[in-house]
Amino acid sequence: MRSSVVWACLAAALLPQSAVAVKEHDFKKCDQSGFCKRNRALADNAAASGADWASPYTVLADSASVKDGQFQATILKTINAQGDTVRLPLTVSFTQSGVARVTVDEERRQNKDIELRHDSKVRKERYNEAEKLVLVGGLELDKTAAVVEDDFEASTNQKVVRYGPEGQFEAHIQYSPFSVEFKRDGATEIKINDRGLFNMDHWRAKVEPKEGDATDAAANEDDGTLWEETFGGNTDTKPRGPESVGLDISFVGYDHVYGIPSHTGPLSLKETRGGDGKYSEPYRLYNLDVFEYILDSPMTLYGAIPFMQAHRQGSTVGVFWLNAAETWIDITKQKVKSNPMALGAGAETDTQTHWMSESGLLDVFVFLGPTTQDVLKNYGELTGYTALPQESAIGYQQCRWNYVSDDDVKDVDRKMDKFGIPYDIIWLDIEYTDGKKYFTWDEKFADPKGMVERLDEHGRKLVVIIDPHIKNVDNYPVVAEMKQKELAVKNKDGSIFEGWCWPGSSHWIDAFNPKAIDWWKTLFTYASFKGTAENVFIWNDMNEPSVFNGPETTMPKDNVHHDGWEHRDVHNLNGMTFHNATYQALLSRKAGELRRPFILTRSFFAGSQRLGAMWTGDNQASWDHLAAATPMLLSQGIAGFPFAGADVGGFFGNPDKELQTRWYQAGVFYPFFRGHAHIDSRRREPYMAGEPYTTIITAALRLRYSLLPAFYTAFHAAHTDGTPILKPLFYTHPDVESAFAVDDEFFVGSTGLLVKPIVDAGKEVAAMYIPDAEVYYDYFDYSVVPTEAGKVTQMPAPLDTIPVLMRGGHAFARRDQPRRSSQLMKFDDYTLVAALSKSGKAEGELYVDDGDSFDYEKGQYIHQRFVLEGSTVSSKAVDAPPKKAGKWLKAMDDVHVDKIVVVGAPASWSGFSAATVTSGGKTWTAPLDYVPPSGGRAAFAIVRHVGVRVGADWEVAVV
Ligand code: GLC
Repeated sequence: MRSSVVWACLAAALLPQSAVAVKEHDFKKCDQSGFCKRNRALADNAAASGADWASPYTVLADSASVKDGQFQATILKTINAQGDTVRLPLTVSFTQSGVARVTVDEERRQNKDIELRHDSKVRKERYNEAEKLVLVGGLELDKTAAVVEDDFEASTNQKVVRYGPEGQFEAHIQYSPFSVEFKRDGATEIKINDRGLFNMDHWRAKVEPKEGDATDAAANEDDGTLWEETFGGNTDTKPRGPESVGLDISFVGYDHVYGIPSHTGPLSLKETRGGDGKYSEPYRLYNLDVFEYILDSPMTLYGAIPFMQAHRQGSTVGVFWLNAAETWIDITKQKVKSNPMALGAGAETDTQTHWMSESGLLDVFVFLGPTTQDVLKNYGELTGYTALPQESAIGYQQCRWNYVSDDDVKDVDRKMDKFGIPYDIIWLDIEYTDGKKYFTWDEKFADPKGMVERLDEHGRKLVVIIDPHIKNVDNYPVVAEMKQKELAVKNKDGSIFEGWCWPGSSHWIDAFNPKAIDWWKTLFTYASFKGTAENVFIWNDMNEPSVFNGPETTMPKDNVHHDGWEHRDVHNLNGMTFHNATYQALLSRKAGELRRPFILTRSFFAGSQRLGAMWTGDNQASWDHLAAATPMLLSQGIAGFPFAGADVGGFFGNPDKELQTRWYQAGVFYPFFRGHAHIDSRRREPYMAGEPYTTIITAALRLRYSLLPAFYTAFHAAHTDGTPILKPLFYTHPDVESAFAVDDEFFVGSTGLLVKPIVDAGKEVAAMYIPDAEVYYDYFDYSVVPTEAGKVTQMPAPLDTIPVLMRGGHAFARRDQPRRSSQLMKFDDYTLVAALSKSGKAEGELYVDDGDSFDYEKGQYIHQRFVLEGSTVSSKAVDAPPKKAGKWLKAMDDVHVDKIVVVGAPASWSGFSAATVTSGGKTWTAPLDYVPPSGGRAAFAIVRHVGVRVGADWEVAVV
């Protein structure tokens, strides 16, 4: 056995990880997390007390002012029966895009003289730097936001601020107790602290409880977890004591809430306080390496996006809870008709949520829609939009743990070609390194340079894994430098933190430290990371961080990061900072090289979408995991991070061939499309499957490659305004109540393709829900599907068929020539596909750039809008063309729309054998075939040899 494999086995044997399935008891339940238990108990108390419940938070009327788009005041929290108070600075800011932001800090937390519980190196204030790492814009204040009325009875008791693009939003800030009601067009949509669950554990000194002492509230509050907490044999020493923050947020007249990935349950989130079909635990956000995770659970996973949307007929609103500490969210629903403006059956319901974080500020953003797209756009303005990817990163990716040598890599590459199977990137997992020392190569990879050059010959790329744990061993310059420069995460006493991961004993780079990022950059230069080249990209794994012998398989919360912040405060940001360090490193590999980095991350937070792709971690080769992937990916998409995939085939175990085939057919539509397998699983490259499976999988892969232009166009939309790539039906059909909980099918970008992956063994029929009365055609044979709005239609789906429908009214561009990689298709001609709506129209778009550099920022792209109406198909530039075409854009002069396929072509076209083409002042004819309807198949027409430049405006008329 190679030494690296020995290490992996040794590490596995030492770990709780080596268990067969996730042990739920390895991870905390709410009542094992002190602050969650306390905040939940507060909610129970409030509910039990009913009208007698009084929130102890009051705005000091004299302190309130509104100026330049911001309301500022001090909240007084009454902390004991004697009426002692602490002061909490409050701001409610109104941005130019109509977002409201509520922030509460604690004055005493900023007092540098306060005592820590023990001699920790940690900072003495509430963590307030999440925004520095997460927010990238959208904060310009709306200076026109103004107080419209003070409460008529007691002008000191509330302020109403009108704000938003057309002044259609209002924030009713009530003083005693503190609460805010957010209204749109006069109707209440969101309320905060309406149930009085706002809680900010204030700074206090530890009080030893005395027997019979009923007067000291601080002592009485102590349930034994305020100052120290032990779980699974690990003790968290909490140098600052309790500092949790909790708040209730109610969505008035909303029956569905979505978002807060990553979890395995349905897209429309479940209630969490017990009862039939409900969860009894809150949704948890605490990035962890949850080994062999379970399905349909609110348990935490590898990444966290604390962004939630509520939806009802015709309206979406949302909140973003900017807090990087451990967070839990309870969800309950109540039948009431409290929003008179809300329509539909679901409007009879209020969804109540309760957010609880262990530390940090209260910092919550409120979005009032009214569309899902508005909310996503606003959220993206704040946290950034999806990076435009390397085009090869949206092709198919071939991975396993592990390809064992450079010869192995070349062999897989050769076989993929032999079988005519397209792919773009082959991946190397941890075994490529010399003993898990990143930036080194195992001796079996004797000639990485040759391997990489060989891949480059047919436009292929390599991804290698680089994890954040750095092996603690002698004669490894990387660890020596990191220690010497003091760039690693520290223990509470300031010494270097040591723990276990794949390499055994390791230290962790502290990517919160700008100096650590500078150092990380030096490791990726071509001169330093020998064997890498421009076509080598990176996979960042285990960045939650996963620490095999740590509490809940991660770092102790009392560890200390750059600038004295506790790990507790920044935990959910950890993965993103590492991903960011790698992103910066790839940008600076070589002076003057401006290629888009491609980096896959396992752990993520709000904002990670700017840096690359994520995947759903270690799933299993089982049908239920295949099924679970769809809602998980949909959830990622509507949480602003759509570049998402699940391991195709399932990571653990061995899929049978039917499962593997169905998984590929589903994977065709994953924005990030990668086959991956555990080290103990059998080889399963598509060509290993044998017939008929290899042929069916190859057809699926070719379908993906033909659709790459449509996917890339969808990525561009995500990059521009946060449009999801896979669109759930509540997004596309916001008024159709029966669509709101559908999460096993989706539309792809703007193509109008409705896809329902088959996720059951032996199933050869897909029950597809059809949301509207538009015409739907089968993608493959153009048959008109018998449908009824809001009803299910049965689509035959034998193993070689993917249920894909084309909704009438959409057009998209495709590339039909099969090739080995996306790179080799770069200058291929396009086919335009248009599916006519009932009213005889179709519309769509194509965005294309070089898929590699940042030249698109300088106008080097093609963005055309297609419209088919009556007898004319036209293409018009969405933006004005660039002044000066660069190399790529010039080369695109030779790229044409070669063919136009019109599904549902009008009968009036039947007499024509040619179409008239006009472009660039010239006119010519192109042959047209009209095929009349037959059986259940729609009429269709094909215009061939159209010969129009894809980047030019043109018109094709059948007259
Ligand atoms: C983690 C990753 C998995 C990878 C393995 C070895 O389990 O989630 O994808 O193969 O580590 O690096």
